[in-house]
Amino acid sequence: MTFFRLLSFLSVVVAASAGPMVLHERRTAVPSGFVRHGAALANQTITLRVALTASNVGGLEEKLTSLATPGSPDFRQWLSKDDVKAFASPSPETVSAFGAFASANGLTPKVISPNGDWVSITLPVSKANKLFAAEFDVFTHPSLAGPILRTLSVSLPSELVGHVDVIHPTTAFVAPDVPVVPGRRIATAGPAPSCDTSDPNGIITPTCLQDLYGIPATPATETSNILAATGYESEFASIADLAQFLTLLRPDISNTTTFTLVTADNGTNPQGPFDAGSEANLDIQYTAGIATGVPVQFLSVGGSVLTFPDSLFDTSTFLDGVDNPPSVLSTSYGRIESAFGASVATKICNGYMGLGARGISVIFASGDGGVRGNHDDSSLCANNTFLPVFPASCPYVTSVGSTLGFAPEKAINFTGGGFSNVFPSPDYQTAAVAGFLETIPPDFAGIFNSTGRGYPDVATQGWNFEIVVDGEVFLEGGTSASAPTFASIIALINDRLVAAGKPVLGFLNPFLYSTASSTFTDITSGHNSGFVCPASSVAFDAAVGWDPLTGFGTPVFPDLLAAALG
Ligand SMILES: *[C@@H]1O[C@H](CO)[C@@H](O)[C@H](O)[C@H]1NC(C)=O
Ligand SMILES: *[C@@H]1O[C@H](CO)[C@@H](O)[C@H](O)[C@H]1NC(C)=O
Ligand SMILES: *[C@@H]1O[C@H](CO)[C@@H](O)[C@H](O)[C@H]1NC(C)=O
Ligand SMILES: *[C@@H]1O[C@H](CO)[C@@H](O)[C@H](O)[C@H]1NC(C)=O
Ligand SMILES: *[C@@H]1O[C@H](CO)[C@@H](O)[C@H](O)[C@H]1NC(C)=O
Ligand SMILES: *[C@@H]1O[C@H](CO)[C@@H](O)[C@H](O)[C@H]1NC(C)=O
Repeated sequence: MTFFRLLSFLSVVVAASAGPMVLHERRTAVPSGFVRHGAALANQTITLRVALTASNVGGLEEKLTSLATPGSPDFRQWLSKDDVKAFASPSPETVSAFGAFASANGLTPKVISPNGDWVSITLPVSKANKLFAAEFDVFTHPSLAGPILRTLSVSLPSELVGHVDVIHPTTAFVAPDVPVVPGRRIATAGPAPSCDTSDPNGIITPTCLQDLYGIPATPATETSNILAATGYESEFASIADLAQFLTLLRPDISNTTTFTLVTADNGTNPQGPFDAGSEANLDIQYTAGIATGVPVQFLSVGGSVLTFPDSLFDTSTFLDGVDNPPSVLSTSYGRIESAFGASVATKICNGYMGLGARGISVIFASGDGGVRGNHDDSSLCANNTFLPVFPASCPYVTSVGSTLGFAPEKAINFTGGGFSNVFPSPDYQTAAVAGFLETIPPDFAGIFNSTGRGYPDVATQGWNFEIVVDGEVFLEGGTSASAPTFASIIALINDRLVAAGKPVLGFLNPFLYSTASSTFTDITSGHNSGFVCPASSVAFDAAVGWDPLTGFGTPVFPDLLAAALG
């Protein structure tokens, strides 16, 4: 109480026009893994980015639902970038409210996004603490290279309430995940001996996936239909490794098949001897290697593990300014949802809402820690509080889990899945999720939010994928393998739609949920306790129909194509 009054008082001193401070976001404790080292230097300068409230996010949401729902009059009449901008940009009142606040406080905001929804301000820590009733402290985390400044609480002067959605970085504490699913080097292999990942020698290759899901090898014809794989955190995709991969595993197509580089936030893609990242190579090899003939882009976004939320913000703001964006965007990165905090997660997710409305299918890996997020921390195995992963938990993305084995495929133990604590269950999935919730025994020990958005939506194989890194052959597993596989399937369907003079699939989920029972193979066994936790630890079980391990199951290409064309 004293604390709050003191801060209100300070805000009155600094900003004569300011009303009372209104709490915007707070954490009750320092997030686990982070260590606090006391107050940041008052004279240190920080740059904060401020999200100005969209003029009509509710209108955009309604429009997107209509555009994406089969049978509606404007089904798949995707919007232009200016159409989306009209919903997503701040209103003149919002711009002037923030402008008045900035000039009253000697700030000079810079607009940093094409829709005008982001501005940045640079100011001393002492001033940021006063203006936003914050207490910026120095924090470290064993897996971050250096200290970071964060605050456990951030408030808005009352005249900004309703005009500002995010002030960042403030209460987001995002640390890197240590990968849980190991890659293994193998002797140079060719086309898989068994194509069965439940066999320890069974290897997954593009040919296996084509056979398993009915994916055509016939090249795509439509040059306008682009499939993009994102690269974050200095993961670079190697052109030479892709050529070697194609020579080995797609001898039926030219090994000069490659990708184009597109960058945001000063992203790069160096091609030196050890620059290639196994994540970026996996994403590029299982898009260029499966989406035969589809133009593939590597969208390399600058920034580091420290600035992952900024990289996600800027992926959307970059595409907001592009006239002819890719029609599929595949991303195999994520973090525990709670690390972002509600305001940051909501802003990122609303960015995908805008991309979906433009006709972009935004596809995410569902995470590799089963019900316990992306972690390698075996101390969490006995903790029955489930940790959802974001952006997989955003209702405007399609999240992809992992299976292994054949006849039948099963959910793999690490397939990320669960229920969001930020986003409520969207209408398109309410019935499907309700069916699953009925299968959970009343004495179920897992603690999760049954009103939240359930994920993943779909799955594909995700174990023993053969890839090439630095000229050597490795086996990789993870939902990181499944996302580009599913994205490639969607890109090939888009190619056939464009060739038939039809619009691309765009935001997929309302369509998928309405047709999945006849276009996916239901996966009904598996327990997602994670790669490191014992199988006896509490987790979800796959079930008949949708479940938070594999969604509706694995795609049947010809059936999905027929539904898309119909
Ligand atoms: C900031 O404050 C610290 C400690 O009060 C002082 O040592 C340092 O010189 C100051 N730096 C600048 C740029 O004023
Ligand atoms: C690509 O194919 C050509 C001709 O088949 C072959 O000579 C070359 O070695 C291949 N490149 C790689 C990187 O495997
Ligand atoms: C990109 O590089 C330019 C020029 O060096 C710099 O001004 C800008 O701040 C950088 N942007 C980001 C997001 O790093
Ligand atoms: C379980 O994990 C959650 C999330 O990290 C944490 O808030 C909670 O304190 C943990 N409980 C125990 C008993 O460790
Ligand atoms: C559960 O999810 C809803 C959104 O569906 C959210 O509003 C609520 O805060 C969440 N509860 C907890 C305890 O996180
Ligand atoms: C999870 O599945 C993988 C692949 O089958 C296996 O290697 C790993 O040992 C499993 N983990 C546990 C704890 O059973």
